[in-house]
Amino acid sequence: MDTQLKNRKIILGVTGGIAAYKSCTLCRLLIKAGADVYVCMTPAATKLVGKDTFEALTGHKVAIDIFDEAKDISHVGLAKDADLFLVAPATANTIAKIAGGFADNMLTATLLASTCPVVVAPAMNTNMYNNIATQTNLSTLVNRGIYVLTPNEGELACGIVGTGRMKEPEEIFSDVCSILSNRIAYINHHPQLGLEQEKLPAPQKPLELTQTRLLPKSLGVGLKVIITAGPTEEQIDPVRYISNNSSGKMGYALAQVAAYLGADVTLISGPTNLQTPFGVKRIDVKSAVQMLHAVESYVTQADIMIGCAAVADYRVENPSPIKIKKKDDEDSITLKLIKNPDIVATVGHRQSHRPFTVGFAAETNNFEQNAKDKLVKKNLDLIILNDVSNKSIGFNSDENEVKIFDRDGQLAHFDKQSKQVIAQLIMELIFKTVRNK
Ligand code: C5P
Repeated sequence: MDTQLKNRKIILGVTGGIAAYKSCTLCRLLIKAGADVYVCMTPAATKLVGKDTFEALTGHKVAIDIFDEAKDISHVGLAKDADLFLVAPATANTIAKIAGGFADNMLTATLLASTCPVVVAPAMNTNMYNNIATQTNLSTLVNRGIYVLTPNEGELACGIVGTGRMKEPEEIFSDVCSILSNRIAYINHHPQLGLEQEKLPAPQKPLELTQTRLLPKSLGVGLKVIITAGPTEEQIDPVRYISNNSSGKMGYALAQVAAYLGADVTLISGPTNLQTPFGVKRIDVKSAVQMLHAVESYVTQADIMIGCAAVADYRVENPSPIKIKKKDDEDSITLKLIKNPDIVATVGHRQSHRPFTVGFAAETNNFEQNAKDKLVKKNLDLIILNDVSNKSIGFNSDENEVKIFDRDGQLAHFDKQSKQVIAQLIMELIFKTVRNK
């Protein structure tokens, strides 16, 4: 395997689960691939595996006691320059602490001080794993960009058979390689993402999907995707602009999933507060005109273009080069607005180098008709409809519910769920449609 581990500094956090004995094999695999591994153990983990084992394997002192650190290793020093922090096994207790931002032992303190990608491999009893508290904590981790490696189903140390068995060292090793080579941007811990979902029949039209499945990671390989996201800002004068409430979350989630599935992703983004998803190339723009220029400079290479941005329909015809002053003798001012280019329609109507083009229809009424009309008018291949009059989905919320149409009618309906899961379903549908064309 072409591993990405050579000379990478990896912190291996070991917590007090029975699976801690497997961490020795994991540690060995990482070292054999060229990584420089530093082990951090919780006090409970030391009851299960001796620190001497890890010290012999890594050649570094194992960090356990935060109060020893003045003379030995500091949590901040350990975190500094790390390329990846891997917690394997991650007990329910440590997962809860990470979710809460605790720093009550060497492992949690070092993790809190780390700025590198974090990967956790949960290992625990099935009921503990399925407990809403643990699931909520895992969601918090996923939403924060932490990679959660879904535990396997199988025989557990407690004697029962169920989900909660830590992934095997070889599997974790391979996930770590993928993360470090930018191939994985998102690993879903979602409890429904079990293997049984893989056995679902191929999608048929119309499709009602309420659950998600583990996606084959090669689905996007070889495809170049452009995604527009976020709002645009249309300048009025140097200090004022017209914008909208788009958070960009949906477009960023799509970019994250597309990169996870192996695609080459360029995210053309209006101003947002979001972090660039792992492995995604991001181009920042402000206005609709700038967004169009950015899209046009990538479009000839692209296989897929997804217009997820909430582009302002109009811009100020003549923005003032200096700040507009309030005048005592004028009760109103007039701004003349002119139409902005329609970015997704410009792409949809291209005569050559036209990528598979997907638009969004954020509607408040007459939903399906408006969506279908836009599909035709903008010459799109797919349109994704969402109801923005419902406050719990759409703009600025973390959840969404969408219907997807092509020229033949409704292709899919994805029930209300997190934007990240919706993004998986959408990207899976887009990649499969493009590949079947
Ligand atoms: O016409 P409407 O704004 O409702 O269409 C929404 C779809 O068109 C979205 O996919 C959005 O990203 C795209 N759009 C665009 N350029 C515009 C306006 C909308 O790309 N100027």
